[in-house]
Amino acid sequence: MNYRNNNFYIEKIKAENLIKKYGSPIYCYSNKKLVENINNFKNSFKTFSPLICFSVKSNYNSTILKIIKEHGLGADVVSDGELKKVLSLGFKPNKIVYSGVGKKFEELKFAITKNILLINIESESELRNVQKLAKRFKRKVSVGLRLNPNIDAKTNTKISTGRLQDKFGLNSIDIIKILNKFKNSKNIKIKCLSVHIGSQITENKPYNNVLLAINKILSKSNFKFEYIDLGGGMGIKYSKDNRKLDYSELSKNIYKFSKKNNCKIIFEPGRSIVGDTAVLLTKVIYIKNSSNKKFVIIDAGMNDLIRPALYNATHEIIPLTKKSSRNSSSHDFVGPICETSDRFLKTKNYQKIIEGDNLAIKDVGAYGIVLSSNYNLRPRPVEFIIKNSKIKRISKKQRLNDII
Ligand code: LLP
Repeated sequence: MNYRNNNFYIEKIKAENLIKKYGSPIYCYSNKKLVENINNFKNSFKTFSPLICFSVKSNYNSTILKIIKEHGLGADVVSDGELKKVLSLGFKPNKIVYSGVGKKFEELKFAITKNILLINIESESELRNVQKLAKRFKRKVSVGLRLNPNIDAKTNTKISTGRLQDKFGLNSIDIIKILNKFKNSKNIKIKCLSVHIGSQITENKPYNNVLLAINKILSKSNFKFEYIDLGGGMGIKYSKDNRKLDYSELSKNIYKFSKKNNCKIIFEPGRSIVGDTAVLLTKVIYIKNSSNKKFVIIDAGMNDLIRPALYNATHEIIPLTKKSSRNSSSHDFVGPICETSDRFLKTKNYQKIIEGDNLAIKDVGAYGIVLSSNYNLRPRPVEFIIKNSKIKRISKKQRLNDII
């Protein structure tokens, strides 16, 4: 996805033409970028060949999931819906892990009957439910224990999950207690220690601290886990001010760790696989000058992309056509929704925008469409994927009459 002759292209398609043909706002993915990300992730960690379970919550479009599956990845799911979806798309049960603090009895039952690789347990009560079901079905169910290592991932507090004040996982004392209680259970096989400390992590230090915390548990408990599931969280570059996580250092450290402990590694990446594969194309409806602000009111709102409103997240916005004849100006990009938090970005020294211009909001492939809603009774945006010069619509258009 890049400019050619001042026009923004997604592979071989001029983005302006997509808006002309299909309207706006619309999500557009690049097939090539997705495949590149998958291969890059695999290559970065090839010394220890982890099982890569794509975190389905970040994007569950069927076409996207099928591409991910075809490239050999498994799935990390967090609900009955996600589990049923990946099974129906042909993901192999032995490549599926199931996370989440609040799995209901019925959800556990379904997962157990499908023989998935691991149910990652987050409380002793959940483990007891699994044991009950395993006995009922006369099975030995494989589980992972999710550790809360009390480590600050140094990311947005709303997506930080590894501190003791966060609801996730079991602290190290409870992990040891559970190991002692359940290690000889007839119906439970504890195979994995899992951990996920947060999302959009851009530094290696929190991951290194996780490895240290796991090492401590391994030596204290003297328990042999077949798998260590290090979760996801790998950060991407949303703007000039932040950086992507450096995989090379991470890879070296995990390789050493896996050799030392003779264990297989699982990852659950979401954002790092799909985050930068999509843009949200949108049109400028109005320009409004108010006091010393210039509001650019676009036709995408917080119902289409909630990350800026919810997490103060930065998504760069670029014009689909660069015009050197235009002066530079400052802008406040906002949506049409009746909430002050429906704002996207403030920019300085930006190509002057006028009514009718078309723009792309970048890096919306993860937690974009999945967090969209019909708020203000607006239809959700349609999704397209571009492969070379082929355009394919990959989600249904919601008809206004249906949602009315
Ligand atoms: N594994 C577990 C157990 C998780 O809870 C998550 C994300 C992942 C893996 C994938 O993390 P990733 O590689 O995508 O960072 N809506 C927020 C992000 C919420 C993340 C929730 N858990 C956002 O838009 O930033």
